[in-house]
Amino acid sequence: MGNCCGTKISSDAISRNASGSRRRRSGSRRKGTGLSSRVSSSVAAVTPRSEGEILRCANVRSFAFNELKTATRNFRPDSVLGEGGFGSVFKGWVDENTFLPSRPGTGMVIAVKKLNQDGFQGHREWLAEVNYLGQLSHPNLVKLVGYCLQDEQRLLVYEFMPRGSLENHLFRRGSHFQPLSWNLRMKVALGAAKGLAFLHSDKAKVIYRDFKTSNVLLDSNYNAKLSDFGLAKDGPTGDKSHVSTRVMGTYGYAAPEYLATGHLSAKSDVYSFGVVMVEMLSGRRALDKNRPAGEHNLVEWARPYLSSRRRIFRILDARLAGQYSLAGAHKAAALALQCLSADAKNRPTMHQVVAALEQLQETTTTSHHHRSPQSRMLLGGRGFNASGRSSAGAGARPRRLSASPLPA
Ligand SMILES: Nc1ncnc2c1ncn2[C@@H]1O[C@H](COP(=O)(O)OP(=O)(O)OP(=O)(O)O)[C@@H](O)[C@H]1O
Ligand SMILES: [Mg+2]
Repeated sequence: MGNCCGTKISSDAISRNASGSRRRRSGSRRKGTGLSSRVSSSVAAVTPRSEGEILRCANVRSFAFNELKTATRNFRPDSVLGEGGFGSVFKGWVDENTFLPSRPGTGMVIAVKKLNQDGFQGHREWLAEVNYLGQLSHPNLVKLVGYCLQDEQRLLVYEFMPRGSLENHLFRRGSHFQPLSWNLRMKVALGAAKGLAFLHSDKAKVIYRDFKTSNVLLDSNYNAKLSDFGLAKDGPTGDKSHVSTRVMGTYGYAAPEYLATGHLSAKSDVYSFGVVMVEMLSGRRALDKNRPAGEHNLVEWARPYLSSRRRIFRILDARLAGQYSLAGAHKAAALALQCLSADAKNRPTMHQVVAALEQLQETTTTSHHHRSPQSRMLLGGRGFNASGRSSAGAGARPRRLSASPLPA
């Protein structure tokens, strides 16, 4: 990402103060490099700039810890929106003009991510998030409202995304999370693809490196926005095709060449996008040890079916039966398969993916949705179906990749 202070990327300015009053350097308090493999991985994303510099550049507000404590009603357990490797995410309220804490239910809703002080993925990811998200702005990236850096406390403040993560919609069961329809899945795929395409564009030149369903958040209209830039990395410069880095990310989503060599490119994100496409088509997790043998790894299992016009129904989420056209299903599967090409050169760019998904949406809105004999069969309970899912389809949450001994 070539820009810093002043030239905020894109148009959607967050013109809030970046008050320096509480800003301080925390290098001495950094928890060092030996903490966790994930922490050390993102060094390269932030090393060129000092922390003070980064925070001055970021177009976001600096919050006092007490402000966020009040805004979340003392980080009340019943306001937890979710938990990740970084810590818990809480719902809170602030005044939309002053950004001071407001009464619950009034003002602007925020999501406050609070770093675990013991189980850190750490300061460096926190910093990378402020650095990238503070400067990048796009309708398909979640807005970073601000941050808190006070003593040992590290927090991030985002716009609240009322429909939570794509992960919850695909894999959680319960009255709160209805299965997403085919059209909504395609809408979410397009929104997320646009977010990645923007990151890969010449304007931003960023590799996201952590594309997965829990990092795709949904607003009230199911517009998808990418969150979590802790692993994001500047893309290669000049005529280089990749950057060399430690292998970080999440099991099940990382591209094979990146896993094997540490060569990270925009095409690594395209591969991860392909994995998420297959998760959306199938309603199954990228990795699920609760599945029968041979089905643990979604991509390996689904690959032969994705390319088969006859057998594609074997992998399509039974809860989608009757909602898609045959042509639409085949196109979506073919696109996913292309993103999953073993040779990165054969994967499309994210711009091409966006174009293909836009075309798919047009087909979807104009074509007649009929039930194929196969989908009728699935409706009748053959093949895999929702009730047959392991532990309500939840499976284990994805696990983080730990660093390989490749250089940072
Ligand atoms: N801005 C937000 N608005 C609403 N809910 C959010 C927001 N940010 C995060 N969440 C919820 O909190 C959960 C935890 O998010 P977090 O990014 O900390 O972890 P994760 O992405 O699930 O896992 P990991 O740490 O491996 O990336 C998300 O899955 C989502 O449900
Ligand atoms: Mg996340």
